[in-house]
Amino acid sequence: MLTAPEPRTYVTTSPDETREFGKRIAPRLGPGNVVFLYGDLGSGKTTLVQGICAGLQVGVWPNSPTFTLINQYEGRVPVFHCDFYRLGDPGELATLGLEEVFFGNGIALVEWPELAEEWAPLDTIRVKITRRSAKKREIVLHGLNL
Ligand SMILES: Nc1ncnc2c1ncn2[C@@H]1O[C@H](COP(=O)(O)OP(=O)(O)O)[C@@H](O)[C@H]1O
Ligand SMILES: [Mg+2]
Repeated sequence: MLTAPEPRTYVTTSPDETREFGKRIAPRLGPGNVVFLYGDLGSGKTTLVQGICAGLQVGVWPNSPTFTLINQYEGRVPVFHCDFYRLGDPGELATLGLEEVFFGNGIALVEWPELAEEWAPLDTIRVKITRRSAKKREIVLHGLNL
């Protein structure tokens, strides 16, 4: 029987180190993978997404999609960067075409995923980021062995 790997904890001490950490995650991702990124505002979710996207050969630098809930990029596979911070209510999710995002041929990277829990595929990778000091972040990775 397959068992999920134990959560692992990592520490970074600069934004670039967090991006490098994202680049290490990228090769482990393929079509259909979903990554939920938890953490307070300013914890480093988007910074980590930038590193993952660089590792996926996305040619642009994703930033926080303030007014759009989902941005799509072309990397070595399609990449959907979701940020549900401004989601009004979970019912709105039904209007966003999430079947393609979560169960299609791309990779979904989701900030503020709390309201989308019921959409999470069984093998969703979860990343929890905590700000420990101005430049130090603790990153706990669930569901993926690096
Ligand atoms: N180790 C670190 N990892 C990630 N971001 C860091 C780190 N140290 C400082 N920062 C800063 O914290 C902020 C993180 O912002 P961002 O990635 O947009 O967070 P979020 O998307 O979680 O709101 C940035 O200003 C970044 O420069
Ligand atoms: Mg963000």
